[in-house]
Amino acid sequence: MTMTFSAFDALLASRFSCRAFRPDPVPRAVIERILGAACKVPSWCNAQPWQAVITSGAETDALRAVLKDAVEAGGHAPDLPFPTGYSGVYQQRRRDCGWALYDAVGVTRGDRAASARQSMRNFDLFDAPHCAIISSPAELGAYGALDCGGFVTAFTLAAQAEGVATIPQAALAGFSPVLHRHFGIGDDRLILCGISFGYADPDAPANSFRTDRAPVDEIVDWRG
Ligand SMILES: Cc1cc2nc3c(=O)[nH]c(=O)nc-3n(C[C@H](O)[C@H](O)[C@H](O)COP(=O)(O)O)c2cc1C
Repeated sequence: MTMTFSAFDALLASRFSCRAFRPDPVPRAVIERILGAACKVPSWCNAQPWQAVITSGAETDALRAVLKDAVEAGGHAPDLPFPTGYSGVYQQRRRDCGWALYDAVGVTRGDRAASARQSMRNFDLFDAPHCAIISSPAELGAYGALDCGGFVTAFTLAAQAEGVATIPQAALAGFSPVLHRHFGIGDDRLILCGISFGYADPDAPANSFRTDRAPVDEIVDWRG
């Protein structure tokens, strides 16, 4: 054990979802190190259900084009059903992070055209040079997705430790059929999300805010 709690906590605290990237590519060796670290998370039966298609260069541009065509065609069809609703504290937290983003980029309340434009930035992959499309075997169901969630989080943290910024994007999984077709991902796998990644543009307004977290007392029910 060489890492202190405070170093680990500082790594967690420094990560954020990046919504504006510089164009510089991440060296393949760095991406391989990030993947190698992310694979160390636990999974049920050690099945390691995660698979990642990773794009670079023209392949990332082709992905942007395919996604934007799909959005314009209006075929929202995720493999894994999207949440049916957010209520109570979950609705509040969702609103808070949405408004933090809109305030940062100058979208005023009620300006639906501007919020739609910001939302469309998802499909530009926020100009990231790379995107990882994460899938899990369909037969593993929700537990495969749970294992992959751990992988996604570890990917974001390993990337952060390498100075690489990330954003997990469920928005991309909303257009799973085109991703299956474009990348030849079989129907026996569920596309869960994308992770756009690269080097953050530190001056971009979209990267100027940070989200907060509920205090521990709000998320734990101590017994004994
Ligand atoms: C599974 C998952 C899917 C997400 N999908 C999107 C997305 O489609 N678009 C987006 O802008 N942010 C997305 N996010 C980022 C969240 O909004 C972000 O993690 C949350 O607001 C907390 O902020 P932070 O990551 O900066 O700490 C996603 C995050 C996760 C974990």
